[in-house]
Amino acid sequence: MNDSNQTEKRKSDHIEICSTKDVTARYNFWDDISLVHLATPEIDYEEIDTQLRLFGCQLSAPIVISGMTGGTESGKKINASLAKAASDLQVGMGVGSQRAAIEKTSLSGSYEVLRDFDIPLKLANIGAPQLVMAGSYKHACEMVGDAMDMIEADLIAVHLNYLQEAVQPEGEKRAKGLLSMIRDLAIDFPVIVKETGCGMSPELIETLSRMKVKGVDVGGAGGTSFSAVEYYRSQEVGDRMRARLGRTFWDWGIPTPVSAAVASLHFPTIATGGVRNGLDVARAVVVGANTAGIANRLLAPAIEGEDSAEAELREIIEELKVAMFLTGSKNVKQLSEHDPLVSGPTRDWVEHLVT
Ligand SMILES: Cc1cc2nc3c(=O)[nH]c(=O)nc-3n(C[C@H](O)[C@H](O)[C@H](O)COP(=O)(O)O)c2cc1C
Repeated sequence: MNDSNQTEKRKSDHIEICSTKDVTARYNFWDDISLVHLATPEIDYEEIDTQLRLFGCQLSAPIVISGMTGGTESGKKINASLAKAASDLQVGMGVGSQRAAIEKTSLSGSYEVLRDFDIPLKLANIGAPQLVMAGSYKHACEMVGDAMDMIEADLIAVHLNYLQEAVQPEGEKRAKGLLSMIRDLAIDFPVIVKETGCGMSPELIETLSRMKVKGVDVGGAGGTSFSAVEYYRSQEVGDRMRARLGRTFWDWGIPTPVSAAVASLHFPTIATGGVRNGLDVARAVVVGANTAGIANRLLAPAIEGEDSAEAELREIIEELKVAMFLTGSKNVKQLSEHDPLVSGPTRDWVEHLVT
């Protein structure tokens, strides 16, 4: 199999595995964030306003559909379903890694489909290893420029996925020089840095905050585990060693709420990783994130079609509004001022990393 066919096969495997198997971390840290009930909200439900501005874009709710796919026929359908939902409900949306289409332009239609919709915030996507291996800064700039043009993006998300690269057979484990690459790219492009399930430490956040990056998607632990995904892929082909790695690192990473709380002290923050419903979206705002990011929860509905994707998103927004009502939060700013109870392992992480 050549590189491009291998990438397409991997993408199809990811969609298949994530939509049919349990790939989530064993512990969801959002359950450690309790909002305090207000029995007398003193607002009318109808006046609750979920809108906000992020990266200069107006969103109707603090939600970004996190990048998942593209580069395949099924990826095109999924992106189209999600794009329709994002446009109808005016939330942000990212696409999956655009490497495939940068290498083979005939695949770009599966991402370009976003251009047919009025999505208020669009995030292009490229992997950190591809940038490290670009060979020259000029080539890295060309890749980023192509990825952004492909979907007429507002920002480019540079995704960090070294856990996945470390446990998958075809993984690209070159990370040396990445920070200086991000530093330079952030001068020339509107860059956000995005983890994909392992979160960001306070040290990394501090480092990034000294660069011109526009924000982060902390992509923390507690939701989709790419170690789990790779476990299933390795099991399928009888690769015992890789399957073992996938199982061992299944729950690796820093909880999403913890990374989000730290990052939000420095820049606009998207909290992706384990967000299952509108209550989790509210929790994300309460810990300091500007928006929640949602991936896997929207995958199966998006495969079903645009109506299912939109229905799922509508229900999530309704749940968010109920959480806002019951905390007496008339708007997103008031919700962000709510003082939650933090318990369990998340509290331990906060004590260890933050205080
Ligand atoms: C099928 C699938 C494919 C993904 N592909 C990408 C990708 O190409 N680039 C990326 O930055 N993140 C990718 N992600 C990671 C998500 O954007 C998100 O960070 C992660 O799934 C955690 O969110 P969740 O718990 O809501 O699923 C993918 C996730 C899924 C489920």
